[in-house]
Amino acid sequence: MENPQILLIGSDPALKAEFEAATDGLRRWHPLVHFAHDRRQGVELARSRRPDLVVIESPRDCDALKSLASELSVAAPDCQIVAAYQKRSFDGDDSESKFLIEAMRSRVADFLQRPLSSSELQETLDRTLNRAQRGSGRMGKVLSFVSNKGGAGKSTISVNTAVALAMRHPGEVLLVDTSLQLGVAAMMLDVAPRTTIVDAIRESHRLDETLLRQLAVQSECGLHVLAAPPDAVEASHVDDEGFSRILTLARRAYRYVVVDTYPMLDAVIMAALDLSDLVYVVFHGTVPSVVGNAHFIDVLRKVGVSQGRQRVVLNYNFPKVSGALRVDDVVERLGREVDHVFPYQKRILTALNTGRPYALKAGRRWGFGKSLNRLADEIENLPGAHGSSVEFRTRPSDGRVGGEVLA
Ligand SMILES: Nc1ncnc2c1ncn2[C@@H]1O[C@H](COP(=O)(O)OP(=O)(O)O)[C@@H](O)[C@H]1O
Ligand SMILES: [Mg+2]
Repeated sequence: MENPQILLIGSDPALKAEFEAATDGLRRWHPLVHFAHDRRQGVELARSRRPDLVVIESPRDCDALKSLASELSVAAPDCQIVAAYQKRSFDGDDSESKFLIEAMRSRVADFLQRPLSSSELQETLDRTLNRAQRGSGRMGKVLSFVSNKGGAGKSTISVNTAVALAMRHPGEVLLVDTSLQLGVAAMMLDVAPRTTIVDAIRESHRLDETLLRQLAVQSECGLHVLAAPPDAVEASHVDDEGFSRILTLARRAYRYVVVDTYPMLDAVIMAALDLSDLVYVVFHGTVPSVVGNAHFIDVLRKVGVSQGRQRVVLNYNFPKVSGALRVDDVVERLGREVDHVFPYQKRILTALNTGRPYALKAGRRWGFGKSLNRLADEIENLPGAHGSSVEFRTRPSDGRVGGEVLA
């Protein structure tokens, strides 16, 4: 958890500035920070965003602090709460220590003294977030597939990756098709969804792990699919808050959550990016695609997807033609290594037409199947991956989702 979600609640603009300066100086953590200017907005954001940590501008009155802490712990049961306070707002040492002891009896886990310093914030994050990690169970991994243009192979690679993972872990992989209209995932898998992502959004007030599993349709190979909305009108119901909630729940309910996206960086996709353990950038080997992607990768970094969370996927979705770029050329133009290369495989098209994804029959030793298995291995080897499904289903854990990005 190098990118914890932090929610800062406070009306004092100086606190926001202090906090931004202190986060800039952090060594280990690169938090995504949300700001709320009052208590009501803070509780609302805690509920929808499920931050790992909430920092409250501490009221002088300990009862007010306690009641806010208890409201927050209902809204986001797994979050750690830290109070930021001014030493000078107390008359003497005695009143300060009384306040701290009293506050500790509530859900407040730690304190930050203002003005905030990077080193103090670093220590507090080390303490509270490590505690949170120990206390909560392991979460499922979220993997997003993105590109700056359509036709790169996002759906092909994400669906096949999800199938490959589901063959290893039947019933424990969810594919979320975010396509705005007429998603291809259901077609590629030959399943007929009765419910879609829109139902999950509509039910969001009562959505839990069980309901989410019910809304997903099961494919023959053991993959669960949360299908795309049937049309653009329905798609307009999908907003970033609802979508964040779905993903937050999904990674508690499943070992792996694979997100197929559309070529746009809107609020919904940003929410997916914020929540993703790995973001796979898919593109094909032509000059415009590579040039476009060099820029796109940079944009991703600027919106908070650090290089460590990015994977570059070169997909040859056309037969060998003269003038196509070789891997070396691509590496040179991108100025960074390519993490995965998928060769052209003409049976991909047959697979598309028959609704039997290629991964079902793919060999592991060569070609597309080999690349696919390498990618699935990478996902399985992510640090903190689940040891056993029993362990991961019984222990709840926290979630972190996006919003205003600082890091
Ligand atoms: N490695 C590949 N070999 C052959 N055809 C491919 C390959 N990858 C993708 N395709 C084909 O390219 C087209 C675009 O792929 P798709 O996955 O739909 O892209 P996106 O989801 O990024 O828009 C599809 O017709 C798909 O069958
Ligand atoms: Mg697609």
